[in-house]
Amino acid sequence: MANQGRSKTGSRKKSPSRDRRPTGVFINERRLIRDLNAISKIGIGSGGSVTRLVFSVKDLRSRQLLIHLLRQAGLKIHIDRVGNIFGRLEGRNPGAPAVLVGSHLDTVVQGGKFDGTVGVVGALEAVRTLREQNVALSSPVEVVCFVGEESSRFGYSTLGSSLLAGEISMEDLTHAVDRDGTKLGDILSSMGIYWENLASLRRDPASLKAYLELHIEQGPILEAKKKKIGVVTSIAAPTRFRAVFTGQADHSGTTPMEMRKDALVAAAHLIIAIEEVCLNFSQLEKGRVVGTVGAIKIEPGVINAIPGKAELSVDVRSIKAEAKDHVTKLVKGKAKEIARARKVGVEFLPIRDETPVELDREIGVLLEEICKDKGLPYEVMPSGAGHDAMQLAKITRAGMIFVPSMRGISHSPMEWTSPKDICLGTQVLLDTIMRVANEAL
Ligand code: GLV
Ligand code: MN
Ligand code: MN
Repeated sequence: MANQGRSKTGSRKKSPSRDRRPTGVFINERRLIRDLNAISKIGIGSGGSVTRLVFSVKDLRSRQLLIHLLRQAGLKIHIDRVGNIFGRLEGRNPGAPAVLVGSHLDTVVQGGKFDGTVGVVGALEAVRTLREQNVALSSPVEVVCFVGEESSRFGYSTLGSSLLAGEISMEDLTHAVDRDGTKLGDILSSMGIYWENLASLRRDPASLKAYLELHIEQGPILEAKKKKIGVVTSIAAPTRFRAVFTGQADHSGTTPMEMRKDALVAAAHLIIAIEEVCLNFSQLEKGRVVGTVGAIKIEPGVINAIPGKAELSVDVRSIKAEAKDHVTKLVKGKAKEIARARKVGVEFLPIRDETPVELDREIGVLLEEICKDKGLPYEVMPSGAGHDAMQLAKITRAGMIFVPSMRGISHSPMEWTSPKDICLGTQVLLDTIMRVANEAL
């Protein structure tokens, strides 16, 4: 580590948050990588892919292992009703608001081993280092593992952190259904979570000093610019909905081409239109809009019938709310145009409409200072991917640290971040926790 062994000068009198002296507290790199690998084995599949869909057995097993590790680390464990896990290290002032640090352990289908897991294991390593080395900080620090950050199962993202931030509504949950027809709302009610008591999962903002999240970049910028750390300024937010085309299911052999009402062909035209519209708004100054159709469901879905129904999952994201809203309107307009031209019906089922968030500037500046002190090349950048920090930013000061993703690949078994970079990011996380937890309020 760049600062290891530098002596404290004590020559300048500074407030704790401006103290640039090395911390002298260093993570255990072997233990960090060991635990990351252990968690990654849960849900491992072909080609080294990892699948731990929210509320699946694999997801639960990974969270059980985390509970075990938190207990081993001597942290005080709390699990809320939805399954968000907290491991708390008290500070010198136990009543002070806590610094929350973490991410998620659930994954996409056939994802990688780093998305989310690096942030949870990094937080665990940072906090157990503090405990083991008897570092007394002013504020308590809590490791957190949020439930259901990924939207792969229900189309609904950042579930646990949204509940914690009070940023959820039962209306939003209405269309959150998985492939097998299981409703997210039903799973929640089986856990005793209903519309009437949603607010009981909210965390009192006064109990929080800040939220910090370490994450892989999931994009190509850091690697391309040969930077080690990304200091995140803002997070792009998605607007998600289902576009459902309804035509006429009919015989594939007897129905003449000109007499068909093929819902899937209409949907195919919309997919192309989404790409065209988003390409027109993909430049940074236009809001870096991206649009994706990630899933299609067709009925009846057999080789010898014309599809009567086609349902597309549409995900539009941008770092600028206006650009995202504008593109979403254009996309819906195109869908209606296509439906009219093809004499099929179209309706839109909303999933969630979120606003891009700014992260805390002061924490950003602090992260830059830490990188400079350590001689680490860093990049100040927005995040194109969604994160739990997006929800936490609504109730507390939130900061994010990125580490490089090989070739920018993520949500894929090819996802890779070098152990060295993970350790560097975790050390930066630890230094940041110490500075933020010792800041005078
Ligand atoms: C989370 O990984 C996302 O979909 O952005
Ligand atoms: Mn992800
Ligand atoms: Mn993630």
